[in-house]
Amino acid sequence: MDFTVSIDGTDQSAPANGGDTVLDALLAANVGFSYSCQAGNCGTCKCELVSGEIFEMEYSEHALLPQERERGVVLACRSQVWSDVVVRRLQAEEFIVHPSRVLRCRVAALDWLTHDIVGLRLEIELGGPYSFSAGQYARIELAGAPDARDYSMANCPNEPLLEFHVRVLPEGQISRRVAALKIGDAVRVSGPLGTSYLRAMHPGPLLAIAGGSGLAPIRAIVESALECGVLHDMHVYFGARAARDVYGQQWFENWRSRGVQVHVVLSEKATGETPFRSGWVSDAVAEDFSDLSGFKVYLAGPPPMVDAAIAVLRARGVHPRDTHADSFYPARATAPMRSPRQASRL
Ligand SMILES: Cc1cc2nc3c(=O)[nH]c(=O)nc-3n(C[C@H](O)[C@H](O)[C@H](O)COP(=O)(O)OP(=O)(O)OC[C@H]3O[C@@H](n4cnc5c(N)ncnc54)[C@H](O)[C@@H]3O)c2cc1C
Ligand code: FES
Repeated sequence: MDFTVSIDGTDQSAPANGGDTVLDALLAANVGFSYSCQAGNCGTCKCELVSGEIFEMEYSEHALLPQERERGVVLACRSQVWSDVVVRRLQAEEFIVHPSRVLRCRVAALDWLTHDIVGLRLEIELGGPYSFSAGQYARIELAGAPDARDYSMANCPNEPLLEFHVRVLPEGQISRRVAALKIGDAVRVSGPLGTSYLRAMHPGPLLAIAGGSGLAPIRAIVESALECGVLHDMHVYFGARAARDVYGQQWFENWRSRGVQVHVVLSEKATGETPFRSGWVSDAVAEDFSDLSGFKVYLAGPPPMVDAAIAVLRARGVHPRDTHADSFYPARATAPMRSPRQASRL
């Protein structure tokens, strides 16, 4: 290994090869560090560059604001190491690390939840116990498949079967294989991953925004919040294209009966009577709230929906540290590099 990545103010460090990201190096050395999308979209892995030289790969404008960048803040998942590097953690808010596990599971059930979303339930055979926080995801590998993919747990941590909601894409290498699984087939699950999990200690209201199969982690978060006795205002927005894409109505009814405000918003104009709202789910949130300061917000689903919703949240006063997002980006693609950046230049 060429270099060392160290965390300022701790004795934690990790070896790195030139070109490794700060995040990859830390995770490979089992150093606990906040992250979620690993693709420069969510901003969860923000940290301060104290010293050293990095190359920054492309990232979403919502993940790191220009004024933060000017202050020396970088995204660990987008920062390639080109010298010894020292970074500083930004926040210590409810930092939970569960032991990383590789589980051998068997398919216990497979049900179509909509015409293109399949619900997969897995029984853990070997490698448990598996602990995670509601909202986290795992990496799933299928026998004979070329690649692994990330899917969010839809079950609460105390439920025995692991549950995933997988949108089956017409050209999808892995999602199509998930849909073709049979009861008893073997599935490898590694995790848990991600930091977009329920912060049960947050004293303010909770807003959850899901698009499509993004309902998986949101279901886990809302159910767990209700179980933990989180009694603040809770608002759930579920965005789908059309009525045939709506699922989870039994959960919505149950949540409503327990005081949660649930809105289903369809982006395609409905023909005829519909119990659902229409438009973009982010616009529905914007319509309903003029001020969201003090809210804790969880988002999951397609990247354009997450980006549009984050823009609304910023405009309505939600602090970035109260925004926890899982953008369902396709499997990682290599992003182009920016010019080198040195801590001393900041
Ligand atoms: C943190 C995280 C959590 C995730 N959780 C879930 C989850 O709970 N449920 C879920 O269904 N998915 C989830 N995803 C997405 C999932 O990991 C896969 O990317 C997705 O299932 C596509 O994989 P595939 O192998 O079927 O398609 P691929 O073979 O990778 O892609 C096939 C084609 O579809 C395009 N494509 C890929 N993804 C999408 C998309 N979302 N919309 C439109 N076109 C696309 C690709 O660009 C390509 O052209 C998550 C992703 C991340 C990063
Ligand atoms: S921006 Fe780095 S983990 Fe999401």
